[in-house]
Amino acid sequence: MEGAVGALAAAGCETAHLDAELLLAHATGWDRAEIAADPDLRLPVGASREFAAMVRRRVRREPVAYILGRKGFRRIELIVDRRVLIPRPETELLVEVAVEAAPRAVLDVGTGSGAIALAVADELPGARIVATDTSMDALRVAEANADRLGLADSISWSPTSRMSARRSGRASPPRSASTSRGRPWSRARRASRRSRRCSRRSPVSMRGPERWPSRSARARRPPSPRRSGGPATPR
Ligand SMILES: C[S@@+](CC[C@H](N)C(=O)[O-])C[C@H]1O[C@@H](n2cnc3c(N)ncnc32)[C@H](O)[C@@H]1O
Repeated sequence: MEGAVGALAAAGCETAHLDAELLLAHATGWDRAEIAADPDLRLPVGASREFAAMVRRRVRREPVAYILGRKGFRRIELIVDRRVLIPRPETELLVEVAVEAAPRAVLDVGTGSGAIALAVADELPGARIVATDTSMDALRVAEANADRLGLADSISWSPTSRMSARRSGRASPPRSASTSRGRPWSRARRASRRSRRCSRRSPVSMRGPERWPSRSARARRPPSPRRSGGPATPR
């Protein structure tokens, strides 16, 4: 554990200790409290190898959610992989606003992993929800999440063609949903704008070591899902 935290910190991971704990918990099946209570617990050989491999991926600045293959969002857990972007924490605020507004119908444009649509379906069981994406890969992830969460009957999934998206005058979707009742999104929009401004300015998130994968690694990789009609670069 100590070695992993050191390696992650040296690679520039700001949350080295937390990341190492999460990876170790995943590799061993132990909970984080057990690990915190005795960080020198001896690992079974298989778990030790898996942990080392995950730490190496994190040292290369792969996001923890991709390494674990899941991300907690509001009350649900989503399966995520490189076909979709990892839902941002501020998007949870958008869902909070949506749930407070309690619309009868919700359209989630650019659903990705299905985070917004699924969290709203979970918290507003009566709402009629339609979720769209131009990426069939993303829709597959979203539908698989819906099946896992027992929410498949609550949402209609619909592919958007790039052509129809262009015709509607929107080249890329907002990171938000719209509702049948008014526009109660200003709080979430402000949070989202603030966060984007921070991202643009932040040398760490845009240019620093957190950018993943590196340009040279991208060049070695097969075409990204974006180039083949999938979602944008992972964050
Ligand atoms: C930044 S991700 C956001 C995913 C999700 N809403 C979230 O907050 O985690 C944007 C998604 O929009 C999709 N997308 C891009 N352009 C689109 C368009 N014109 N119409 C529908 N979906 C689009 C991408 O494929 C991607 O999955």
